Amino acid sequence: MRADDAHADLAHVLLTQEQIAQRVQELAQSVDEDYKDDDVLLVGVLKGAVMLMADLARAMSKPVQMDWMAVSSYGSGTRSSGVVRILKDLDIDIAGRNVLIVEDILDSGLTLSWLIGNLRSRGAKSVEVLCLLRKPSAVKIDVPVRYLGFDIPNEFVVGYGLDYSENYRTLTCVAALSPHIYQA
Ligand code: PRP
Repeated sequence: MRADDAHADLAHVLLTQEQIAQRVQELAQSVDEDYKDDDVLLVGVLKGAVMLMADLARAMSKPVQMDWMAVSSYGSGTRSSGVVRILKDLDIDIAGRNVLIVEDILDSGLTLSWLIGNLRSRGAKSVEVLCLLRKPSAVKIDVPVRYLGFDIPNEFVVGYGLDYSENYRTLTCVAALSPHIYQA
């Protein structure tokens, strides 16, 4: 898909590349400050968090390790079902370590709720969450997000790692997808 094709599928831009970069820089400073005396392992959730992880980790002054998990909630389309399975597990043993989950979006919150519990059960010293985007549905539920990028409206968003059918992840902005694309 060519970049100009992708832009034709967007309803409007929610967050520009500059707004995202500014906020990621701020979040990186907060993480640096909070973990200045301690080690932290960044755990990215594939695939949506790839862009965020790459920018966040490099915006931090503290050298950190990164690891990755791929999880999938059963079901299809634009909704999570709540049943989560691990497609790719961590390579690193997190027992006794401070873990910071790096996630792109909190929608129903089911993925993160499950992931926090799963990582805690492995004996991590601490498990915190950094999430770039939070939808209104997730504000009501009890997922403790220590570092939040933006609250966004309840629209289907793509870009900066977020996809629809594996497309649009490489857009540098976060944008609402035109309903005619996903309702087709
Ligand atoms: C998305 C996103 C979160 C999850 C959020 O992942 O990256 O992991 O959904 O939804 P929830 O709060 O309703 O659980 P997705 O399953 O689309 O995989 P992807 O990151 O590979 O696109």
